[in-house]
Amino acid sequence: MGARGNFSSKMGFILAAAGSAVGLGNIWGFPFEVGQGGGAAFVVVYLIFCFILCYPVMVTEIAIGRKTQKNAVGAFNDLGFRKWNFVGKLGIFSGVLILSFYNVIAGWAFGYIFEMVAGNFSIADQFGEYIKNVFKVGSYGLIFMGVTAFVVSKGVSGGIERAAKLLMPTLIIMMIIIVGYAMTLPNALDGLKFYLVPDFSKLTPSVLYNAMGQAFFSLSLGMGALITYGSYVNKNDNIVSSAALITLTDVGIALLAGLMIFPLIGFMSGGTMEGAGSGPGLIFVTLPEIFGEIGGALGAITGTLFFTLLCFAALTSTVSLLEVPISYVVDELKIRRKRAAWIVATVIFIIGIPSLIGNGYSDFFSTAFTTYKDGGIDTDFLSFVGALANDTILPLGGCMIAFFAAHVWKKHNLDEELAQGAPGYKGSFVQKYLNFAIGYFAPIVLAVVFVFTVLFKFFGIQIL
Ligand code: TRP
Repeated sequence: MGARGNFSSKMGFILAAAGSAVGLGNIWGFPFEVGQGGGAAFVVVYLIFCFILCYPVMVTEIAIGRKTQKNAVGAFNDLGFRKWNFVGKLGIFSGVLILSFYNVIAGWAFGYIFEMVAGNFSIADQFGEYIKNVFKVGSYGLIFMGVTAFVVSKGVSGGIERAAKLLMPTLIIMMIIIVGYAMTLPNALDGLKFYLVPDFSKLTPSVLYNAMGQAFFSLSLGMGALITYGSYVNKNDNIVSSAALITLTDVGIALLAGLMIFPLIGFMSGGTMEGAGSGPGLIFVTLPEIFGEIGGALGAITGTLFFTLLCFAALTSTVSLLEVPISYVVDELKIRRKRAAWIVATVIFIIGIPSLIGNGYSDFFSTAFTTYKDGGIDTDFLSFVGALANDTILPLGGCMIAFFAAHVWKKHNLDEELAQGAPGYKGSFVQKYLNFAIGYFAPIVLAVVFVFTVLFKFFGIQIL
């Protein structure tokens, strides 16, 4: 391992980046966004965004990271454009916000391991009470943040890589088995229909904004996480194909999560799909149901294993979120990694407290808190921070990163970096598309989406 550390192999980087991407965003976030976005129409928009817009941004982030071997802020300095390092700073800010609420959800999921061990499938009905018990779920969150800080304090290469290698395939296999089982339940087909047959009349502007935010969030884009991870990539690795593989893996796992949840909602609702739009509690209410359906010791074992794997998936994501501020603090402010990890993790946990208590424990943070409009509905603090970070800052970050790479750092430099380790890239269709997407398509679309999202979500003004 060099001074900064490198991933020990190409597979190591892909696994770590996929580990960052695959997390609660796929299994918790995606199904609830699909449910709220009216089903398959959301899925279609989401897929389009992932492949034609987000994939080019991912390639760009990794290339900037590998070229400079720096953190999200240092990368801009290193290329000679100090004025642009505010993009990295904004990224660090959004990473801190995301981790602050992400860890709350991770705490819920962590607590579910123990509920499943105890065979307490009826937790589904008590979920509202469960998240109100902030001392209990807060302690789980505290432990989760502690483990994240511990992994990050050890440095990026060792822990992340090894864990991802074993656990991600296990998670995928387990999800496939659960999907198979869910399909056998009565009314599963109604769920599938909701999930896979688009009704484009449901395509409102807010579906578009949320799909964009979800795509960025799920792919870990727009805040320099992949600049940071890219800085640990070897020069002879193929960025273009690695990013494609990471995108496919992430999207594939999100789609699997939907295949798991929607047939189940079909079953639970007797085919009406009522409850599909219930929001952030969705998987916590539906999944225990399926483990209860399996029942007995087998149900408990399956449930325990599932939530354990989910927590590992979340951990590889929280690690990447914390790594962004830490690598900045370590590189630029010369604070020791171990010390930095514990201090920053503590601060982020504290910032997360309103998100923790805003689920029924504190009225103020639950609904009365905000003037946040999202279509005129008062909302809780956690959803507010999610809308601010995921749907607003991440697309803006992606917009600026793409614009920066194509027009400030310049396309030919980006292309040079991408061609390294990618024989056949130059002159290919992929190159032409990436040039177009990074230079024009992504910056323009993302700028428009950013403006519309801000107006709509925070000022209640709908243009489209
Ligand atoms: N992508 C992760 C998930 O889906 C969350 C995440 C990790 C993230 N690192 C990130 C989101 C960086 C945005 C930016 O669970």
